[in-house]
Amino acid sequence: MSSTLFRTKKVEQSIRDTEEPEHTLKKSLSALDLTVFGVGVVIGTGIFVYTGSVAKLSAGPAISLSFVVAGVVCALAALCYAEFASTVPVAGSAYTFSYASIGELPAWIIGWDLVLEFALGTAVVAVGWSGYFRSFLDNNLGWQVPEVLGGRDGASGFGFDLFAALLVLALTCVLVLGMKLSARVTTVVVAIKVTVVLIVIIAGAFIVKSANYHPFIPPAETVPAGNSLKAPLIQLIFGWAPSNFGVMGIFTGASIVFFAFIGFDVVATAAEETRNPQRDMPRGILGSLLICTTLYVAVSIVVTGMLKYTELSVTAPLAEAFKATGHPWFAGVISFGATIGLITVCMILLLGQTRVFFAMSRDGLLPRFFSHTHPRFRTPYRPTILLGVVIAIVSGFTSLETLGELVNIGTLFAFIVVAISVVILRRTRPDLHRSFRTPWVPVLPILSVLASLWLMLNLPTETWLRFGIWMAIGFVVYFLYGRSHSRLGRQEGAPAGQAPKPPIDTN
Ligand code: ALA
Repeated sequence: MSSTLFRTKKVEQSIRDTEEPEHTLKKSLSALDLTVFGVGVVIGTGIFVYTGSVAKLSAGPAISLSFVVAGVVCALAALCYAEFASTVPVAGSAYTFSYASIGELPAWIIGWDLVLEFALGTAVVAVGWSGYFRSFLDNNLGWQVPEVLGGRDGASGFGFDLFAALLVLALTCVLVLGMKLSARVTTVVVAIKVTVVLIVIIAGAFIVKSANYHPFIPPAETVPAGNSLKAPLIQLIFGWAPSNFGVMGIFTGASIVFFAFIGFDVVATAAEETRNPQRDMPRGILGSLLICTTLYVAVSIVVTGMLKYTELSVTAPLAEAFKATGHPWFAGVISFGATIGLITVCMILLLGQTRVFFAMSRDGLLPRFFSHTHPRFRTPYRPTILLGVVIAIVSGFTSLETLGELVNIGTLFAFIVVAISVVILRRTRPDLHRSFRTPWVPVLPILSVLASLWLMLNLPTETWLRFGIWMAIGFVVYFLYGRSHSRLGRQEGAPAGQAPKPPIDTN
């Protein structure tokens, strides 16, 4: 039994699968496309929305250190991701990597985990976008959207975020029509978004007052006793009184602003659509991460210098900081840029999501019905449409906070699996060509595991519980469906000298 749970898919087999014409994606992306892709998804709700709430509630001006901590955790993971992405250049990201190294069950777990990351991440960003869009309509056109269409009301529990849902459906159509179109749209939007971020940094730098940086690390404040499940797990484990700010506040902040980095790993999911994945993948991943970390640290230093952290807005902190300091024109430009910029984030998360689902169904762990590409557009249109509709509904009914933390825990867990897989694959397949090699193996992957685990421990206990429930559902699905339908299992089950059984196709 354990041998079937840990059966691994040969790397050569993974690459061969992508060459079957019916299951082939178009190879059209370059290193620059990938970097634009990375920046396109990475800069989003994290910097535009969470900066205010984390500075105000957890870290104060030291939020810039939270970004540094989260950036270091991501850089360690990126060095592991880059080796895998350049060794196993097929769709599916960490899912594919772990299938080739540690085995089918861990791969399933990670795939299931990535579905959570990307689906909920898409929903979170769609909701964040809808908030900016509504304020944009209100400020510029004087049109106030009825509250019932602005998402679920906390008190009555009633309402539907119409714009969030419509955005997801529109992006689903774009993705079904083809990769090239979406890459072109992405480039324009990324340019707008980066320009807006640079405006914040440059224009804001002239408004900074050094008094706002004192205290840089606000002293720890004990939180009144309440729901202990909301406290970070680390505080519960060590029996510490739940508190905000102080040195631990920097780490609590890092575990939340980590959301701002999510997406660089999505670049790896597009490996199969890359012209020269061996060379371009590591460049795309590390390049986008470096650009984003630099921008985040600069933005957070500027914004916490413009206004006292206690006065920052928690909904649109970048725009509001300019409004509050008497520069409404900049505020208008920033909300416009955020409205446009969050669209690409949403689109690329949705793309990453459908590609993981596609790879899992091609392997038979999910119904093969989903692994057929469109005869004309060559896109995995079936999972795209299915997931697009589901996420549109979810985004209509969800709020940002809880889902963001759930996305973070799922992603950090994926980082851990990838780091472990790098070490295992070095031992089991030392012969494979690696155009990018993670330095200092196994020390760096071990550091990556510890760093990711540390951020996970700084997330609320209730987030751990929710994550556990999602993963338990995944186990049930695997044992009831995936294990018996696995394409790899069927091939291995074929008696010697006979062709393997054909994969199940419910088409
Ligand atoms: N990193 C992306 C964002 O901040 C997901 O919205």
